Amino acid sequence: MARQIKIFDTTLRDGEQSPGCSMNLQDKLDVAESLARLGVDIIEAGFAIASPGDFQSVQAIARNIKGVTVASLSRALEKDIDAAWNAIRDAESPRIHTFLATSPLHMEFKLKKTPEQVYEQAVAMVKYARNLCGDVEFSLEDASRSDPAFMYRVIEGVINAGASTVNIPDTVGYAVPEEFGALIRNIRSNVPNIDKAVISVHCHNDLGLGVANSLAAAMAGADQIECTMNGLGERAGNAALEEIVMNLFTRKEYYGMACRVDTTQIWQASKRVSKATGVRSQPNKAIVGENAFAHESGIHQHGVLANRATYEIMTPESIGLPHNKMVLGKHSGRHAFEERLAYLGHRVTEERLNALFDEFKALADKKKTVSDRDIDAMISGSSSGVPEAYKLDRFVVNSGSSITATSVVRLVTRDGSKVERVSIGDGPVDASLNAVDKIIGGSEIKLEDFSLQIVDATDTGADAQGESHVRIGRDGRTWNGSGVSTDIVESVLKAYLSAVNAMTYELEQERTRG
Ligand code: KIV
Ligand code: ZN
Repeated sequence: MARQIKIFDTTLRDGEQSPGCSMNLQDKLDVAESLARLGVDIIEAGFAIASPGDFQSVQAIARNIKGVTVASLSRALEKDIDAAWNAIRDAESPRIHTFLATSPLHMEFKLKKTPEQVYEQAVAMVKYARNLCGDVEFSLEDASRSDPAFMYRVIEGVINAGASTVNIPDTVGYAVPEEFGALIRNIRSNVPNIDKAVISVHCHNDLGLGVANSLAAAMAGADQIECTMNGLGERAGNAALEEIVMNLFTRKEYYGMACRVDTTQIWQASKRVSKATGVRSQPNKAIVGENAFAHESGIHQHGVLANRATYEIMTPESIGLPHNKMVLGKHSGRHAFEERLAYLGHRVTEERLNALFDEFKALADKKKTVSDRDIDAMISGSSSGVPEAYKLDRFVVNSGSSITATSVVRLVTRDGSKVERVSIGDGPVDASLNAVDKIIGGSEIKLEDFSLQIVDATDTGADAQGESHVRIGRDGRTWNGSGVSTDIVESVLKAYLSAVNAMTYELEQERTRG
């Protein structure tokens, strides 16, 4: 039987550390739910001590997401470990993940500690964590640049202190596959009590080797791989979950290893993460890029039509990619729409289904047919459960090459009142967002990022929808929003308002908590 590899997902922790990838509470819950449905073994929900918001989201995930271990990261300090434990203690299966650097560089310049002090602290903090939680993971930060003999000693010490998983991170993405595989083999043969713990690896992608290093380590005996959806993470990111899983799945005879992930849920999970972070994968990204299964050249198309295996080593269906053949239109009923949503991997509450169905009907009135991609875009642009402090009621723009763009925007506020303002700007989008800022008093809000994609356009561009993603910033914090419409300005306005609503909700929640 194939050896089982545990998949430890850190999208909500290391992934969220990617610049501009911060997520709000509802988005994090949505992503965690997708990951649980995907079948990962462990979700690292966050870094509980980092901020009250982080604590709250780790706790919410621990309390609500079932069938999976929920971990919180903590430095090897009592106060961090206490925060981690308080956030995860209600989980079905909680794990404290604590870490301390072991490389000479980190010990001398960052920690300002001797190796002996680091050893003592690691052992003491694992014991401390183990008194609180039955499942403790210890990470030797910057392991790949640590002295092997010192590393073996620390690993032996923390296992004796109660760590049931020891994680070997390639923190700066410096390792190469053969060398990293050898490191794992050496740990296995030089640490006397290594059979009492699971060896985990956590590889960053600075040299583009995160996935290769993780797989080499697994071949050498690591039983847990830490990774992120879409390869998000610090700097160049972490090893991409979808690439690791599809390697194990597509080349199972070669690897002789398997994991519990349901590959057909990969597409929906990837989309959820893109929506929550506002960061889309590059089109040629392996597995989840828009072009990963597209065949452009005539020779390839001919081959695929004759026999898919000529140019396809895995099928789009195996990752749950919508096939885009079935179309819905204005005569389609609620049942057909609901079935389609389920097929595309979107599970929604009754209330949200009603709202989405209304949106679908409105879209079907504007477009002849509504495709799977339209529905995906609609989901990604719809409110994800955050209460709407402001809603777009109507807008009118006047712009052109020889006039200053002007926009009149009317919003409905929470109490139902309608407020309208007019503004000028550098083009219709700028003018419209300026008008919104006048209504909401948003002079301190900065538009940090804005992207627009056209989904499901026909050759003539007719029937296209604009899907916008924005990131706004205020006082050093950021919020994301998405919006979809057949009108480009409307899609940006919706995206901007969804980010503003996320910000308003989060700040209000923080004020209520005091
Ligand atoms: O990259 C790293 O070393 C980490 C650890 C905290 C596991 O993210
Ligand atoms: Zn990391």
